[in-house]
Amino acid sequence: MARLDDNWSSRGRRPQLGHFETSAASLIANRSAAVDPDVNFMSRALELARLGLGRTAPNPMVGCVIVKSGQIVGEGWHKGAGRPHAEPEALAEAGARARGARAYVTLEPCNHHGRTPPCTEALLKAGVSEVVYAVADTHALAAGGATRLQSAGVKVRAGVLETEARELNRAWFHSLAIRRPYVIAKAAMSLDGRIATATGQSKWITGALAREKGHELRRMADAIIVGAGTIVADDPALTARLDGEESHPLRVVLDSKGRCSPGAKAFDRAGKGAALATTAAAPERRLARFREHGVEPILCAPDGGGRPRLDDLLDILHRRGVVTAMIEGGGEVLGAALDADLIDEVWLFIAPLLIGGGKAAFAGAGASSLSEAPHFDFSEPEMLGPDMLVRGLRRRSF
Ligand SMILES: NC(=O)c1ccc[n+]([C@@H]2O[C@H](COP(=O)([O-])OP(=O)(O)OC[C@H]3O[C@@H](n4cnc5c(N)ncnc54)[C@H](OP(=O)(O)O)[C@@H]3O)[C@@H](O)[C@H]2O)c1
Repeated sequence: MARLDDNWSSRGRRPQLGHFETSAASLIANRSAAVDPDVNFMSRALELARLGLGRTAPNPMVGCVIVKSGQIVGEGWHKGAGRPHAEPEALAEAGARARGARAYVTLEPCNHHGRTPPCTEALLKAGVSEVVYAVADTHALAAGGATRLQSAGVKVRAGVLETEARELNRAWFHSLAIRRPYVIAKAAMSLDGRIATATGQSKWITGALAREKGHELRRMADAIIVGAGTIVADDPALTARLDGEESHPLRVVLDSKGRCSPGAKAFDRAGKGAALATTAAAPERRLARFREHGVEPILCAPDGGGRPRLDDLLDILHRRGVVTAMIEGGGEVLGAALDADLIDEVWLFIAPLLIGGGKAAFAGAGASSLSEAPHFDFSEPEMLGPDMLVRGLRRRSF
């Protein structure tokens, strides 16, 4: 993945948004024409936050700008767990100019000692006189920043571009609320919902632009989950390849019996590595082959058919800091996720062809009634050459 921080050091070379656009980004674009300086500065902070896409877990994406006399004098964004938060980055760039300045932050400044000191203390030490943030921090440990700042005499305002800031960290807020990763199901399918022909051919149902977009989704994900059937059929590498750069999210292969080859491309140890999601009933000699290859078996609770339970796997991944998990198929695994109502968002790349027969994208038992079927809200269909990307957001209340 391009390391934007490596090639951006001066104020004159501002990092740009990637070509992955969300509804939040387009909302910001629409609003940035407004004359309201709060909106303009917070838009910039959101733009910076977004540079952390796919690299901040288990932390959220956060951006910050320091404004003095109507001018930005410092900018920062969070580049990953254990690295400085957005506020100290921006304050460092502002230096002495931070005294009496206003800070725009996309998330309420944190108020706790984690791997880095509290941002509230950094803001106070720098002498910032006002803090404007977009959305409150709901993390049990980090919350309380606004109160701390106010009690020290700093003016605090909240809610500027709150909807956009919440959308930007949709997966993180979700994951905090339900203590499980945000699950995005992805499939490339025909008009009739087939992901492969009856003979198993699936390369390529969609065209180059759709596949490139699929790589953007992989770049957002902390973990990619696939079934053993897909590994055996296609031997996918499951890396994100964009702009000549390759990144390696954690790859998790669901395989009850350890039947996949440890030499499959998905088990490459690069980046965040790979894991075999299985159960304690898997033959030990097969698991040993994976361990020898540096692939760690994750032992999940078995479902009624002896397969690793997806909900248990997601709980384990959450405890390991995965915020966004992408299920990339095949049909059996996507069907199992649907049956267990674990899907929070779908990305369906639809090609203008009818396959008929073949493999269904969601091959589980399915809903027994329409009222029981999980409902989704459409979000911005997008044409990608001849194909269409349809995103759906699961309607949930929690
Ligand atoms: N067009 C696309 O977007 C796309 C994407 C991916 C794949 N594909 C195509 O889809 C086909 C493979 O799909 P598939 O449905 O045959 O296989 P799959 O969903 O990739 O894998 C299914 C296998 O995963 C294992 N598994 C372990 N735990 C599971 C669980 N909790 N739920 C479900 N499965 C679990 C099972 O094998 P064990 O019982 O041995 O554990 C099961 O047979 C290939 O033709 C591939 O080309 C298309």
